[in-house]
Amino acid sequence: PAKITTQTIVDMKADGQKISMLTAYDYTMARILDQAGIEVILVGDSASNVMAGYDTTVPMTLDHMIYHTSCVVRGVETALVIADLPFMSYQVTPKEALISAGRMMKEAGAHGVKLEGGKPVVQTISKIVEAGIPVMGHLGLTPQSIYKFGTYKVRATDTEEAQQLIDDAKSLEEAGCFSIVLEKIPAQLAQKVTEEITIPTIGIGAGHECDGQVLVTHDMLGLNKDFKPRFLRRYADMDTDMTDAVQHYIQDVKSGDFPNKDEEYN
Ligand code: KIV
Ligand code: NA
Repeated sequence: PAKITTQTIVDMKADGQKISMLTAYDYTMARILDQAGIEVILVGDSASNVMAGYDTTVPMTLDHMIYHTSCVVRGVETALVIADLPFMSYQVTPKEALISAGRMMKEAGAHGVKLEGGKPVVQTISKIVEAGIPVMGHLGLTPQSIYKFGTYKVRATDTEEAQQLIDDAKSLEEAGCFSIVLEKIPAQLAQKVTEEITIPTIGIGAGHECDGQVLVTHDMLGLNKDFKPRFLRRYADMDTDMTDAVQHYIQDVKSGDFPNKDEEYN
C-alpha cells in the first residue's frame, strides 16, 4: 500500500472516510499496527504512563520521545508517524519549539509532531509549519496541563470553555495544523468543531462525529486492568492472556515439562 501522508489524512475528511489512529512507543508494536493497516501511529507522551510508569505526562523529556519515536519509525512501512512534543519542549519560545520539532524529524525520523494547546501556541505552530514540519493540534483535555486542571474530567462542559475551544480550533487551522486531536469533550461540541473546520478532527472520548478516532493501544488491548473510562472500548483482554501464559510457563518450568526433547539440542 502507498505511504500515508498528512495530505492523505486531509483528503480522507473531504472524502468522508474515517481515520484510524493508535499509539505505539516501540518497534514491535509499531510493526503490528502498521501491518494491520492503521493509518496514523501516534508516539504519544502517554509513554510516560504506559512505558515509564509515571502518574502524568509531565516528566517526559524530548530525548525520551526521540528514542521512542526512532524505535517506532523503524517498524513502519505505510503509516504516518506523528510524535508528541513533550512538556516544556515547545512552550518557552517558538524558536525553542522549532528546534525541538526539528530534532524529532532529523534524529527520530518522525513525519510530523503533535503539541497541546490553543491561542498560546498558535505562533509556535506557524513557525514549525513554515519550516516544513507538519503539526497536529490537541485541544480539550490536554494532559500536560493536569496541574492547572487538577482533574482528568471532561473539558468544555460550560459555554465559555466550549466557545474558546471552537475559536482555538479555527486558530489552529489558520496556523497550518493538518489535523486536531479532541480529547474528552462533549460529543455535540466535537461535532460542531468538526463541521466548522476543514482539517480532520481525531477524537478520544469526543464522540462519533469526529473525522477519526484514537486510543492508547495498551488500553484498547486490555493491558491495563485498572483504567476503565467511559470512552474506552476494549478489543482484547491481554492482561488475562499474558498472565495465563506466564503462569503456564512457570508451571512447566517447575514440573520439568519445559523444555522437552524437541526443544533441546543433541
Ligand atoms: O499521548 C497520547 O497518547 C495522546 C493521545 C491519547 C491523543 O496524546
Ligand atoms: Na499526548
